[in-house]
Amino acid sequence: MKKVLHIVGARPNFMKVAPIHRELARRHRLVQALVHTGQHYDLQMSDVFFADLGLPPPDVHLGVGSGSHAEQTARVMLELDRVFSDQRPDLVSVVGDVNSTMAAALVAAKRLIPIAHVEAGLRSFDRTMPEEINRVVTDRISDHLLTPSRDADENLRAEGIDPARIHPVGNVMIDTLLRSRQQAAALSTVRDLGLSPGHYAVCTLHRPSNVDDPDRLGGLLDALAFIAERIPVVFPLHPRTRKAIAAASLQPKLDRSRNLRVIQPLGYLAFLCLTSQAKLILTDSGGLQEESTALGVPCLTLRENTERPVTVAEGTNTVVGTDPDRIRTEAARILDGGGKQGRIPERWDGHTAERIADLYERLLT
Ligand code: UD1
Repeated sequence: MKKVLHIVGARPNFMKVAPIHRELARRHRLVQALVHTGQHYDLQMSDVFFADLGLPPPDVHLGVGSGSHAEQTARVMLELDRVFSDQRPDLVSVVGDVNSTMAAALVAAKRLIPIAHVEAGLRSFDRTMPEEINRVVTDRISDHLLTPSRDADENLRAEGIDPARIHPVGNVMIDTLLRSRQQAAALSTVRDLGLSPGHYAVCTLHRPSNVDDPDRLGGLLDALAFIAERIPVVFPLHPRTRKAIAAASLQPKLDRSRNLRVIQPLGYLAFLCLTSQAKLILTDSGGLQEESTALGVPCLTLRENTERPVTVAEGTNTVVGTDPDRIRTEAARILDGGGKQGRIPERWDGHTAERIADLYERLLT
């Protein structure tokens, strides 16, 4: 049997690989193995997700850890070169846009191993964003480009990619969300935080452009404190953000408001329990923009652009930038009942992994 090697590295990868791995395992027509690069390694950033998503432990763990982009990418490449030589995959399947994604694609391309990129074609057109470089490079050298939305198809065609290599499979992360909703709803996360359904906001921040600049981060925390005067704001802190707040001595801004609830990063199910019952989501995450649209919860994206425009055109997302006054105004509009309802984009239907498995079987058998 032919072999698919899945590469995961960071938090947003796990929920994309889980449904593909499950579907291929159910069909038994291809052999598969899972490689974890170790880009994320904390219990709450990695292990919890394997447990929550029913992902088997990785067959290979590279333990590359944190570092500069060059260090991290290079370490993943060196380790994967050895793994590809041992495992001899017939297809390397990479997801998303993190450093591990691009590193894996580079090594596979040089070894002439066919590459499938799941979540291909997304573009923010902002090269200051490290993920944009990862997206462009990964798409350029991948053989099969599996796209989540029409804008992604159009971006790839505009870049001159042969349409025969573009496969509009839909959004695989939404497979995980739809499958997990009931399980998440049964959790007591909202109650345990002393919150009432529909009467709180959830915020996540971790983009270097927002958290590595103390002035920008300070302004965002001011905006959150303002919103927290009207409604509790739950703020699970990414390790990068926690370090940035400490380094810039911004803790007093968090301590000002009892309604601004800073908590540890949550696992997949607990976080879904929280977001699905929120009144409002504020984020700079790409995945959370999509999850908000799928959940029908209004989302304010605290960035100047998005690589996921379908969440704005069809979903519940509004890109508001990082100006604290604008964030306050837009949040107030939603709290006053003005949030977008949105609709679910095409092929965000919970069956994307089946379409991906069909494609992998077609390519390999
Ligand atoms: C990475 C991805 C980003 C994704 C995000 C989700 C890249 C370029 N960035 O950003 O696209 O949205 O993951 O979380 O691949 N750290 C820990 N524990 C961990 C992981 C990280 O403490 O388990 C700390 C380290 O100090 C590290 C910092 O967080 O230096 C940043 O981690 P890194 O993986 O470099 O980037 P993220 O900001 O997590």
